[in-house]
Amino acid sequence: MNGFLKALILGLIFTSSMSFTKESSKVYFTNGLKIQEVSATSAVIWTRLCKFPKAVPIKHQQKAAPFRGPIDFDNDMPVTEMDGAVEGTFGEVQVTLTSATDKIVKGWKHVSPYRDFTIMIPVQDLEPNTSYQVLIEGRKNKEEEISEITGQFKTAPDKESIVSVGFTSSTCQYFWDYDDPIRGFKAYDNMRKLEPSFHCQTGDYVYYDKKGPLSFNVELARHKWHAINSWPSLIDFYRNIPSYLQKDDHDILRDDATPESEPYGELTFEDALQIWYEQVPLIDKPFRSIRWGKDLEVWLVEGREFRSDNKMVDGESKSIFGEEQRAWLKNSIEESDATFKILMSPTPVVGPDRDKGKNDNHSNKAFQTEGTWLRNLLSTQKNTYVVNGDRHWQYVSQDLETGLMEFSQGPTSDVHAQGWSQEDVRPEHKFLRVKGGFLYVSVYRENDLPFINFSHYDVDGNVVHEEILKGE
Ligand SMILES: [Fe+2]
Repeated sequence: MNGFLKALILGLIFTSSMSFTKESSKVYFTNGLKIQEVSATSAVIWTRLCKFPKAVPIKHQQKAAPFRGPIDFDNDMPVTEMDGAVEGTFGEVQVTLTSATDKIVKGWKHVSPYRDFTIMIPVQDLEPNTSYQVLIEGRKNKEEEISEITGQFKTAPDKESIVSVGFTSSTCQYFWDYDDPIRGFKAYDNMRKLEPSFHCQTGDYVYYDKKGPLSFNVELARHKWHAINSWPSLIDFYRNIPSYLQKDDHDILRDDATPESEPYGELTFEDALQIWYEQVPLIDKPFRSIRWGKDLEVWLVEGREFRSDNKMVDGESKSIFGEEQRAWLKNSIEESDATFKILMSPTPVVGPDRDKGKNDNHSNKAFQTEGTWLRNLLSTQKNTYVVNGDRHWQYVSQDLETGLMEFSQGPTSDVHAQGWSQEDVRPEHKFLRVKGGFLYVSVYRENDLPFINFSHYDVDGNVVHEEILKGE
Protein backbone atom coordinates (compact mmCIF):
# COMPACT_ATOMS: atom_id res chain seq x y z
CA MET A 1 0.00 0.00 0.00
CA ASN A 2 1.45 3.34 -0.92
CA GLY A 3 1.77 6.08 1.66
CA PHE A 4 -1.00 8.24 0.22
CA LEU A 5 -3.57 5.41 0.27
CA LYS A 6 -2.58 4.46 3.81
CA ALA A 7 -2.98 8.04 5.00
CA LEU A 8 -6.37 8.24 3.27
CA ILE A 9 -7.62 5.04 4.91
CA LEU A 10 -6.32 6.08 8.33
CA GLY A 11 -7.91 9.48 7.81
CA LEU A 12 -11.25 7.90 6.96
CA ILE A 13 -11.09 5.63 10.01
CA PHE A 14 -10.18 8.60 12.20
CA THR A 15 -12.96 10.75 10.78
CA SER A 16 -15.60 8.06 11.17
CA SER A 17 -14.49 7.28 14.73
CA MET A 18 -14.59 11.03 15.47
CA SER A 19 -18.11 11.29 14.14
CA PHE A 20 -19.12 8.17 16.11
CA THR A 21 -17.71 9.69 19.30
CA LYS A 22 -19.45 12.98 18.56
CA GLU A 23 -22.79 11.34 17.81
CA SER A 24 -22.84 9.05 20.84
CA SER A 25 -21.78 11.85 23.19
CA LYS A 26 -25.03 13.77 22.80
CA VAL A 27 -27.97 12.91 25.06
CA TYR A 28 -31.72 13.24 24.38
CA PHE A 29 -35.00 13.54 26.27
CA THR A 30 -36.83 11.03 24.09
CA ASN A 31 -39.09 9.99 26.99
CA GLY A 32 -40.03 13.55 27.85
CA LEU A 33 -40.40 14.97 31.32
CA LYS A 34 -43.06 14.76 33.96
CA ILE A 35 -44.11 17.30 36.56
CA GLN A 36 -45.75 15.36 39.32
CA GLU A 37 -47.23 15.59 42.78
CA VAL A 38 -47.70 19.34 42.48
CA SER A 39 -48.99 20.94 45.67
CA ALA A 40 -49.25 24.60 46.67
CA THR A 41 -45.53 24.67 47.49
CA SER A 42 -43.82 21.62 45.93
CA ALA A 43 -43.45 19.37 42.88
CA VAL A 44 -41.35 16.46 41.67
CA ILE A 45 -39.67 16.65 38.28
CA TRP A 46 -38.92 13.39 36.42
CA THR A 47 -36.96 12.65 33.28
CA ARG A 48 -34.82 9.98 31.61
CA LEU A 49 -31.64 10.50 29.61
CA CYS A 50 -31.75 8.73 26.26
CA LYS A 51 -29.21 7.68 23.67
CA PHE A 52 -31.19 8.52 20.51
CA PRO A 53 -33.60 11.33 19.57
CA LYS A 54 -36.35 8.97 18.36
CA ALA A 55 -37.76 5.61 19.43
CA VAL A 56 -37.28 2.57 17.17
CA PRO A 57 -40.07 2.86 14.54
CA ILE A 58 -43.06 0.53 14.46
CA LYS A 59 -42.53 -2.34 12.00
CA HIS A 60 -45.16 -4.90 12.91
CA GLN A 61 -48.59 -5.36 11.42
CA GLN A 62 -51.37 -5.53 14.00
CA LYS A 63 -54.33 -7.78 14.62
CA ALA A 64 -57.92 -6.50 14.64
CA ALA A 65 -59.43 -4.67 17.66
CA PRO A 66 -59.88 -5.01 20.55
CA PHE A 67 -56.23 -5.03 21.67
CA ARG A 68 -54.37 -4.48 18.41
CA GLY A 69 -51.29 -6.43 19.44
CA PRO A 70 -48.52 -7.04 16.89
CA ILE A 71 -48.61 -10.09 14.62
CA ASP A 72 -45.63 -12.49 14.71
CA PHE A 73 -43.77 -10.53 17.37
CA ASP A 74 -40.58 -12.31 18.46
CA ASN A 75 -40.48 -11.87 22.24
CA ASP A 76 -36.82 -13.01 22.25
CA MET A 77 -35.49 -10.42 19.81
CA PRO A 78 -33.03 -7.87 21.24
CA VAL A 79 -35.02 -5.34 23.27
CA THR A 80 -33.11 -2.45 21.68
CA GLU A 81 -34.59 -3.45 18.28
CA MET A 82 -38.21 -3.75 19.43
CA ASP A 83 -40.84 -1.33 18.13
CA GLY A 84 -40.82 1.72 20.39
CA ALA A 85 -37.48 0.91 22.05
CA VAL A 86 -35.58 3.83 23.57
CA GLU A 87 -32.14 3.14 24.98
CA GLY A 88 -31.05 5.13 27.99
CA THR A 89 -27.62 6.62 28.47
CA PHE A 90 -25.34 7.63 31.32
CA GLY A 91 -25.00 11.36 31.91
CA GLU A 92 -26.18 14.21 34.08
CA VAL A 93 -29.14 16.56 34.27
CA GLN A 94 -29.88 19.94 35.77
CA VAL A 95 -33.35 21.31 36.53
CA THR A 96 -34.16 25.03 36.60
CA LEU A 97 -37.56 26.42 37.61
CA THR A 98 -38.37 30.03 36.82
CA SER A 99 -41.38 32.10 37.87
CA ALA A 100 -42.02 35.81 37.37
CA THR A 101 -40.20 36.54 40.63
CA ASP A 102 -38.05 33.50 41.41
CA LYS A 103 -35.43 31.16 39.96
CA ILE A 104 -34.57 27.78 41.47
CA VAL A 105 -31.61 25.81 40.11
CA LYS A 106 -31.08 22.22 41.21
CA GLY A 107 -27.44 21.37 40.47
CA TRP A 108 -26.22 18.70 38.03
CA LYS A 109 -27.13 15.14 39.03
CA HIS A 110 -26.05 11.87 37.43
CA VAL A 111 -28.32 9.20 35.98
CA SER A 112 -27.18 5.60 35.59
CA PRO A 113 -28.42 2.11 34.63
CA TYR A 114 -29.29 1.38 38.27
CA ARG A 115 -32.53 3.36 37.92
CA ASP A 116 -32.85 2.94 34.16
CA PHE A 117 -31.23 6.38 33.54
CA THR A 118 -34.24 8.07 35.17
CA ILE A 119 -34.11 10.76 37.82
CA MET A 120 -36.65 12.46 40.01
CA ILE A 121 -35.87 15.83 41.49
CA PRO A 122 -38.11 17.19 44.27
CA VAL A 123 -38.53 20.96 44.44
CA GLN A 124 -39.84 22.77 47.50
CA ASP A 125 -40.55 26.32 48.67
CA LEU A 126 -42.68 27.21 45.65
CA GLU A 127 -45.34 29.92 45.77
CA PRO A 128 -49.02 28.86 45.65
CA ASN A 129 -51.08 29.48 42.51
CA THR A 130 -47.94 30.52 40.61
CA SER A 131 -46.76 29.64 37.10
CA TYR A 132 -43.33 28.07 36.71
CA GLN A 133 -41.29 27.37 33.59
CA VAL A 134 -39.26 24.16 33.74
CA LEU A 135 -35.94 23.78 31.95
CA ILE A 136 -34.09 20.47 32.06
CA GLU A 137 -30.60 20.37 30.63
CA GLY A 138 -28.75 17.13 29.96
CA ARG A 139 -25.21 16.25 28.98
CA LYS A 140 -22.91 13.25 28.83
CA ASN A 141 -20.32 15.11 30.91
CA LYS A 142 -18.96 18.62 31.48
CA GLU A 143 -17.14 18.75 28.15
CA GLU A 144 -20.07 17.70 25.97
CA GLU A 145 -22.92 19.49 24.28
CA ILE A 146 -26.02 20.30 26.37
CA SER A 147 -29.52 19.19 25.26
CA GLU A 148 -32.70 20.77 26.61
CA ILE A 149 -36.36 20.07 27.21
CA THR A 150 -38.84 22.55 28.61
CA GLY A 151 -42.16 22.36 30.42
CA GLN A 152 -44.51 24.39 32.58
CA PHE A 153 -46.98 24.12 35.42
CA LYS A 154 -48.90 26.17 37.93
CA THR A 155 -48.87 25.29 41.62
CA ALA A 156 -52.11 24.61 43.51
CA PRO A 157 -53.82 27.55 45.20
CA ASP A 158 -53.88 27.45 49.00
CA LYS A 159 -56.89 25.85 50.69
CA GLU A 160 -58.66 29.14 51.42
CA SER A 161 -58.61 30.43 47.83
CA ILE A 162 -61.79 30.26 45.78
CA VAL A 163 -60.43 29.41 42.33
CA SER A 164 -62.04 27.66 39.35
CA VAL A 165 -60.25 24.42 38.52
CA GLY A 166 -60.53 21.81 35.79
CA PHE A 167 -58.71 18.51 35.58
CA THR A 168 -58.59 15.58 33.19
CA SER A 169 -58.50 11.90 33.97
CA SER A 170 -57.71 8.83 31.87
CA THR A 171 -56.86 5.13 32.14
CA CYS A 172 -55.92 1.98 30.19
CA GLN A 173 -53.47 2.81 27.41
CA TYR A 174 -51.84 -0.05 25.50
CA PHE A 175 -48.91 1.03 23.29
CA TRP A 176 -50.27 -0.94 20.33
CA ASP A 177 -53.77 0.52 20.69
CA TYR A 178 -52.58 3.93 19.44
CA ASP A 179 -55.07 5.76 17.19
CA ASP A 180 -52.69 8.24 15.56
CA PRO A 181 -49.63 6.67 13.90
CA ILE A 182 -47.60 9.85 14.34
CA ARG A 183 -48.77 11.27 17.67
CA GLY A 184 -49.86 8.08 19.47
CA PHE A 185 -53.14 8.84 21.25
CA LYS A 186 -55.62 11.46 20.07
CA ALA A 187 -57.12 11.66 23.57
CA TYR A 188 -53.87 13.08 24.95
CA ASP A 189 -53.74 15.89 22.38
CA ASN A 190 -57.41 16.67 23.01
CA MET A 191 -56.99 16.67 26.78
CA ARG A 192 -54.10 19.13 26.41
CA LYS A 193 -56.31 21.51 24.40
CA LEU A 194 -58.54 21.89 27.48
CA GLU A 195 -55.53 23.22 29.43
CA PRO A 196 -56.42 21.32 32.61
CA SER A 197 -54.82 22.43 35.88
CA PHE A 198 -53.69 18.83 36.37
CA HIS A 199 -54.23 15.25 35.20
CA CYS A 200 -54.95 12.01 37.02
CA GLN A 201 -53.93 8.79 35.26
CA THR A 202 -55.57 6.00 37.23
CA GLY A 203 -53.41 3.11 36.05
CA ASP A 204 -52.84 0.56 33.31
CA TYR A 205 -50.35 3.09 31.97
CA VAL A 206 -48.61 0.06 30.46
CA TYR A 207 -49.64 -3.56 29.92
CA TYR A 208 -46.91 -6.00 30.91
CA ASP A 209 -49.12 -8.94 29.97
CA LYS A 210 -50.05 -7.84 26.47
CA LYS A 211 -47.97 -8.72 23.44
CA GLY A 212 -45.25 -6.68 21.83
CA PRO A 213 -43.45 -7.78 24.07
CA LEU A 214 -44.86 -9.77 26.97
CA SER A 215 -42.81 -8.38 29.88
CA PHE A 216 -41.31 -11.53 31.33
CA ASN A 217 -38.34 -9.76 32.96
CA VAL A 218 -37.11 -6.37 34.19
CA GLU A 219 -35.64 -5.29 30.84
CA LEU A 220 -38.86 -6.08 28.95
CA ALA A 221 -40.97 -4.36 31.61
CA ARG A 222 -38.89 -1.18 31.41
CA HIS A 223 -39.20 -1.26 27.62
CA LYS A 224 -42.98 -0.82 27.93
CA TRP A 225 -42.47 2.49 29.75
CA HIS A 226 -39.90 3.67 27.22
CA ALA A 227 -42.19 2.87 24.30
CA ILE A 228 -45.36 4.50 25.61
CA ASN A 229 -43.47 7.54 26.91
CA SER A 230 -41.99 8.13 23.45
CA TRP A 231 -45.36 8.91 21.80
CA PRO A 232 -45.29 12.66 20.97
CA SER A 233 -48.83 13.14 22.32
CA LEU A 234 -47.73 11.92 25.75
CA ILE A 235 -44.49 13.93 25.71
CA ASP A 236 -46.30 17.17 24.86
CA PHE A 237 -49.03 16.46 27.40
CA TYR A 238 -46.91 15.54 30.40
CA ARG A 239 -44.40 18.35 29.97
CA ASN A 240 -47.22 20.91 30.06
CA ILE A 241 -49.75 19.39 32.46
CA PRO A 242 -48.83 18.38 36.01
CA SER A 243 -49.90 14.83 36.72
CA TYR A 244 -50.61 12.28 39.44
CA LEU A 245 -50.29 8.62 38.52
CA GLN A 246 -51.76 5.57 40.18
CA LYS A 247 -50.85 1.98 39.47
CA ASP A 248 -53.10 -0.92 38.58
CA ASP A 249 -52.68 -4.61 37.85
CA HIS A 250 -51.17 -4.37 34.34
CA ASP A 251 -48.53 -1.90 35.55
CA ILE A 252 -47.42 -4.57 38.00
CA LEU A 253 -47.67 -8.06 36.55
CA ARG A 254 -50.89 -9.20 34.94
CA ASP A 255 -54.66 -9.19 35.34
CA ASP A 256 -55.72 -8.84 39.00
CA ALA A 257 -52.14 -8.76 40.38
CA THR A 258 -51.63 -8.93 44.15
CA PRO A 259 -48.55 -9.25 46.38
CA GLU A 260 -49.42 -12.98 46.45
CA SER A 261 -49.17 -13.30 42.65
CA GLU A 262 -46.61 -15.66 41.17
CA PRO A 263 -43.88 -13.91 39.14
CA TYR A 264 -44.76 -13.09 35.52
CA GLY A 265 -42.05 -15.12 33.81
CA GLU A 266 -39.02 -13.84 35.71
CA LEU A 267 -40.60 -10.53 36.75
CA THR A 268 -41.48 -10.53 40.45
CA PHE A 269 -44.03 -8.33 42.21
CA GLU A 270 -41.11 -6.59 43.99
CA ASP A 271 -39.26 -5.99 40.68
CA ALA A 272 -42.39 -4.46 39.20
CA LEU A 273 -42.92 -2.17 42.20
CA GLN A 274 -39.34 -0.93 41.95
CA ILE A 275 -39.78 -0.25 38.23
CA TRP A 276 -43.01 1.64 38.87
CA TYR A 277 -41.31 3.89 41.40
CA GLU A 278 -38.38 4.61 39.06
CA GLN A 279 -40.74 5.51 36.18
CA VAL A 280 -43.26 7.43 38.32
CA PRO A 281 -41.96 10.16 40.58
CA LEU A 282 -43.42 9.84 44.07
CA ILE A 283 -41.54 10.81 47.17
CA ASP A 284 -43.98 9.75 49.84
CA LYS A 285 -46.70 7.17 50.32
CA PRO A 286 -48.64 6.00 47.24
CA PHE A 287 -51.92 7.00 48.90
CA ARG A 288 -52.21 10.77 49.10
CA SER A 289 -54.57 13.67 48.46
CA ILE A 290 -54.36 16.88 46.47
CA ARG A 291 -55.97 20.04 47.76
CA TRP A 292 -56.77 22.58 45.04
CA GLY A 293 -58.20 25.68 46.70
CA LYS A 294 -61.35 25.96 48.84
CA ASP A 295 -63.59 23.92 46.59
CA LEU A 296 -61.70 20.74 45.63
CA GLU A 297 -59.79 17.90 47.24
CA VAL A 298 -58.91 14.71 45.37
CA TRP A 299 -57.89 11.45 47.07
CA LEU A 300 -55.60 9.07 45.19
CA VAL A 301 -55.79 5.59 46.64
CA GLU A 302 -53.42 2.67 46.23
CA GLY A 303 -55.02 -0.60 45.20
CA ARG A 304 -52.24 -3.11 44.58
CA GLU A 305 -49.51 -2.88 47.20
CA PHE A 306 -51.50 -3.58 50.35
CA ARG A 307 -54.32 -5.81 49.15
CA SER A 308 -55.35 -9.20 50.45
CA ASP A 309 -55.31 -12.20 48.19
CA ASN A 310 -58.30 -11.89 45.84
CA LYS A 311 -59.27 -15.50 46.51
CA MET A 312 -59.53 -15.07 50.30
CA VAL A 313 -63.02 -15.43 51.76
CA ASP A 314 -64.66 -12.00 52.09
CA GLY A 315 -64.91 -10.49 55.58
CA GLU A 316 -63.65 -7.73 57.89
CA SER A 317 -60.00 -8.68 57.43
CA LYS A 318 -60.12 -8.80 53.64
CA SER A 319 -58.97 -5.48 52.19
CA ILE A 320 -57.82 -3.73 49.04
CA PHE A 321 -56.50 -0.74 51.01
CA GLY A 322 -54.86 -2.30 54.06
CA GLU A 323 -55.30 -1.02 57.61
CA GLU A 324 -53.10 2.11 57.47
CA GLN A 325 -54.61 3.38 54.23
CA ARG A 326 -58.17 2.73 55.42
CA ALA A 327 -57.58 4.80 58.57
CA TRP A 328 -55.94 7.58 56.56
CA LEU A 329 -58.80 7.67 54.05
CA LYS A 330 -61.52 7.77 56.70
CA ASN A 331 -59.83 10.42 58.84
CA SER A 332 -58.67 12.68 56.04
CA ILE A 333 -61.95 12.61 54.13
CA GLU A 334 -64.00 13.29 57.27
CA GLU A 335 -61.70 16.12 58.36
CA SER A 336 -61.49 17.84 54.98
CA ASP A 337 -63.40 21.10 54.59
CA ALA A 338 -63.17 21.08 50.77
CA THR A 339 -66.51 21.76 49.07
CA PHE A 340 -66.17 18.85 46.61
CA LYS A 341 -64.37 15.59 47.42
CA ILE A 342 -63.38 13.12 44.75
CA LEU A 343 -61.99 9.65 45.22
CA MET A 344 -59.79 8.63 42.30
CA SER A 345 -59.91 4.86 42.30
CA PRO A 346 -57.88 2.68 39.91
CA THR A 347 -60.80 0.19 40.01
CA PRO A 348 -64.61 0.55 40.32
CA VAL A 349 -66.30 1.17 43.66
CA VAL A 350 -69.93 1.32 42.46
CA GLY A 351 -69.82 -0.53 39.14
CA PRO A 352 -71.71 -2.40 37.84
CA ASP A 353 -68.87 -4.66 36.81
CA ARG A 354 -68.92 -7.78 34.70
CA ASP A 355 -70.85 -10.53 36.50
CA LYS A 356 -68.44 -13.28 35.66
CA GLY A 357 -64.76 -13.67 36.40
CA LYS A 358 -64.11 -10.36 38.19
CA ASN A 359 -63.09 -10.60 41.81
CA ASP A 360 -60.57 -7.84 42.38
CA ASN A 361 -62.42 -4.58 43.06
CA HIS A 362 -64.82 -2.95 45.51
CA SER A 363 -67.82 -3.40 43.22
CA ASN A 364 -67.26 -7.20 43.12
CA LYS A 365 -68.70 -9.69 45.61
CA ALA A 366 -65.15 -10.77 46.47
CA PHE A 367 -64.58 -7.45 48.31
CA GLN A 368 -68.15 -6.78 49.39
CA THR A 369 -67.39 -6.02 53.05
CA GLU A 370 -64.82 -3.29 52.32
CA GLY A 371 -66.85 -2.14 49.30
CA THR A 372 -69.93 -1.58 51.49
CA TRP A 373 -67.78 0.24 54.09
CA LEU A 374 -66.31 2.48 51.39
CA ARG A 375 -69.64 3.30 49.70
CA ASN A 376 -71.13 4.14 53.11
CA LEU A 377 -68.14 6.32 54.05
CA LEU A 378 -68.27 8.28 50.80
CA SER A 379 -72.04 8.62 50.53
CA THR A 380 -72.29 10.09 54.03
CA GLN A 381 -69.90 12.89 53.07
CA LYS A 382 -71.33 15.93 51.31
CA ASN A 383 -70.60 16.43 47.60
CA THR A 384 -68.42 13.32 47.31
CA TYR A 385 -67.93 11.33 44.09
CA VAL A 386 -65.83 8.52 42.65
CA VAL A 387 -63.82 8.61 39.41
CA ASN A 388 -62.57 5.18 38.42
CA GLY A 389 -60.18 3.64 35.96
CA ASP A 390 -59.71 0.08 34.76
CA ARG A 391 -63.03 -0.39 32.96
CA HIS A 392 -62.82 -0.30 29.18
CA TRP A 393 -66.08 1.54 28.76
CA GLN A 394 -67.37 4.93 29.84
CA TYR A 395 -70.20 5.25 32.32
CA VAL A 396 -71.90 7.28 35.00
CA SER A 397 -73.52 5.09 37.61
CA GLN A 398 -75.34 5.62 40.87
CA ASP A 399 -75.35 3.05 43.66
CA LEU A 400 -78.93 1.90 44.25
CA GLU A 401 -78.37 1.59 48.00
CA THR A 402 -76.33 4.65 48.96
CA GLY A 403 -76.80 7.02 46.01
CA LEU A 404 -73.01 7.31 45.53
CA MET A 405 -72.13 8.36 41.98
CA GLU A 406 -69.21 6.98 39.98
CA PHE A 407 -67.66 8.22 36.73
CA SER A 408 -65.65 5.78 34.58
CA GLN A 409 -63.30 7.51 32.12
CA GLY A 410 -63.16 4.68 29.59
CA PRO A 411 -59.96 3.56 27.83
CA THR A 412 -57.60 6.02 26.13
CA SER A 413 -58.46 4.79 22.61
CA ASP A 414 -61.55 3.30 20.95
CA VAL A 415 -59.78 0.12 19.84
CA HIS A 416 -59.13 -0.65 23.50
CA ALA A 417 -62.86 -0.59 24.36
CA GLN A 418 -64.43 -3.93 25.27
CA GLY A 419 -65.86 -5.86 28.22
CA TRP A 420 -69.44 -4.54 28.27
CA SER A 421 -72.33 -4.55 25.83
CA GLN A 422 -73.81 -1.22 24.74
CA GLU A 423 -77.30 -2.76 25.09
CA ASP A 424 -76.72 -3.85 28.68
CA VAL A 425 -78.01 -0.73 30.45
CA ARG A 426 -78.57 -1.49 34.14
CA PRO A 427 -80.68 0.45 36.68
CA GLU A 428 -77.46 2.01 38.07
CA HIS A 429 -76.46 3.49 34.71
CA LYS A 430 -77.13 7.17 34.04
CA PHE A 431 -74.81 7.01 31.02
CA LEU A 432 -73.13 4.15 29.17
CA ARG A 433 -70.82 4.24 26.17
CA VAL A 434 -68.57 1.35 25.17
CA LYS A 435 -65.90 3.52 23.59
CA GLY A 436 -62.70 5.30 24.53
CA GLY A 437 -62.11 8.85 25.68
CA PHE A 438 -61.47 10.70 28.90
CA LEU A 439 -63.13 12.64 31.67
CA TYR A 440 -62.88 16.37 32.36
CA VAL A 441 -63.98 17.57 35.78
CA SER A 442 -64.44 21.25 36.49
CA VAL A 443 -65.29 23.05 39.72
CA TYR A 444 -66.46 26.63 39.66
CA ARG A 445 -68.82 29.12 41.28
CA GLU A 446 -71.82 30.92 39.89
CA ASN A 447 -73.28 33.71 42.04
CA ASP A 448 -71.02 32.36 44.78
CA LEU A 449 -72.68 28.91 44.61
CA PRO A 450 -70.26 26.00 43.98
CA PHE A 451 -70.81 23.61 41.05
CA ILE A 452 -69.05 20.55 39.71
CA ASN A 453 -69.24 19.42 36.10
CA PHE A 454 -68.24 15.89 35.06
CA SER A 455 -67.89 15.80 31.26
CA HIS A 456 -67.13 12.62 29.35
CA TYR A 457 -65.26 13.24 26.11
CA ASP A 458 -64.64 10.98 23.13
CA VAL A 459 -61.06 10.54 21.88
CA ASP A 460 -61.61 13.38 19.35
CA GLY A 461 -62.37 15.91 22.07
CA ASN A 462 -66.18 16.06 21.74
CA VAL A 463 -68.37 16.09 24.84
CA VAL A 464 -70.53 12.94 24.85
CA HIS A 465 -72.12 13.32 28.28
CA GLU A 466 -72.31 15.93 31.02
CA GLU A 467 -73.45 15.86 34.66
CA ILE A 468 -73.60 19.22 36.43
CA LEU A 469 -74.13 19.02 40.18
CA LYS A 470 -74.59 21.83 42.67
CA GLY A 471 -72.62 21.74 45.90
CA GLU A 472 -74.49 21.63 49.19
FE1 LIG B 1 -57.19 -1.84 31.53
